[in-house]
Amino acid sequence: MAEAAAQLKAGGLVVFPTETVYGLGADALNAAAATRIFSAKGRPANSPLIVHVSSLDQAKGFARKFSDIAERLARRFWPGPLSLIVERACSVPDVVTAGTDTVAIRCPAHPVALALIEAFRSGIAAPSANRSSCLPPVRACHARKGLDGRVEMILDAGPCPGGLESTVIDVRTDTIKVLRRGAISIDVLATEASIVDLSQSNARQPRDESQGVRWLHLVAPEHIGKRLRGRPQAARIGLVLRVAHLDLPADIPILSRRLPSSPTQYASQLYDALHELEDEGCGVVIVEALPAEAEWAALSDRLARLSSESIRRA
Ligand code: TXA
Ligand code: MG
Repeated sequence: MAEAAAQLKAGGLVVFPTETVYGLGADALNAAAATRIFSAKGRPANSPLIVHVSSLDQAKGFARKFSDIAERLARRFWPGPLSLIVERACSVPDVVTAGTDTVAIRCPAHPVALALIEAFRSGIAAPSANRSSCLPPVRACHARKGLDGRVEMILDAGPCPGGLESTVIDVRTDTIKVLRRGAISIDVLATEASIVDLSQSNARQPRDESQGVRWLHLVAPEHIGKRLRGRPQAARIGLVLRVAHLDLPADIPILSRRLPSSPTQYASQLYDALHELEDEGCGVVIVEALPAEAEWAALSDRLARLSSESIRRA
């Protein structure tokens, strides 16, 4: 931990586990270090970073104003997968906030993340530890796939328990604005204050198909069979099922994974299963579309974004 903190102090990059996914960390107050995050990930400069802290007091140091509602939500959900967007303190470099007047802050519920922040004694700016447009990492080896040689250190604490990223909300006013759905559901947040869901208008526009092969496809259970048969036979196809029962065509190389039927358990295994299919050389992955119920909304949203991001094979 001391060595990792020293790397951060020296402007280095350290990959560390959180309860959601692995993060790619740098000193949140060091502009040059934070800039290295963007080059290591190949991330566009207009995409701001989340600052990770180990206490509410520390969070307040990164904010010009911490609203009452921000404080109430932090007290209820931290440590945990909730990122609060507040007005930024002037000490936070532009590169971290992508030039906006706001900063996203969260206190992660993972003992290794908290120990690292405490050893470092300041906030750590960290996006998910994957190359841009690749799958989010839920194991140290997933982070190594994309970032080996680009970071000073990777802290391996085994698989992340949660598997779905934090919920990102703007809490500068009394109405909670949801910018990214995630591990903490909108229904639970709605018990705290009035809420508007901007996550859909905030979603990335799907890219033009001609820009590249789409790797991940979300397909309704009743259409999976047809989609499998419509594929060129040379490519190995990955299949992520939940409840669908299919007679898989014997003449097509298919690698299938079945995930649990409860949303929480599904979330904790999804990214791991996708990485496994990627590592097994699947050129295409078909994921059974999820139910329309609210408890699946964050996962459906996440999968829809992944399938529109033309994920590159690492
Ligand atoms: O669970 C998580 O949130 C993980 C772990 C490592 O903490 N981090 C993560 O970071 O998913 P990243 O960079 O992959 O996603 C951060 C999201 C992006 O959608 C970004 O646009 C949004 O948070 N965000 C960050 N700062 C923001 C700001 N000031 N205003 C609006 N959106 C912001
Ligand atoms: Mg990410």
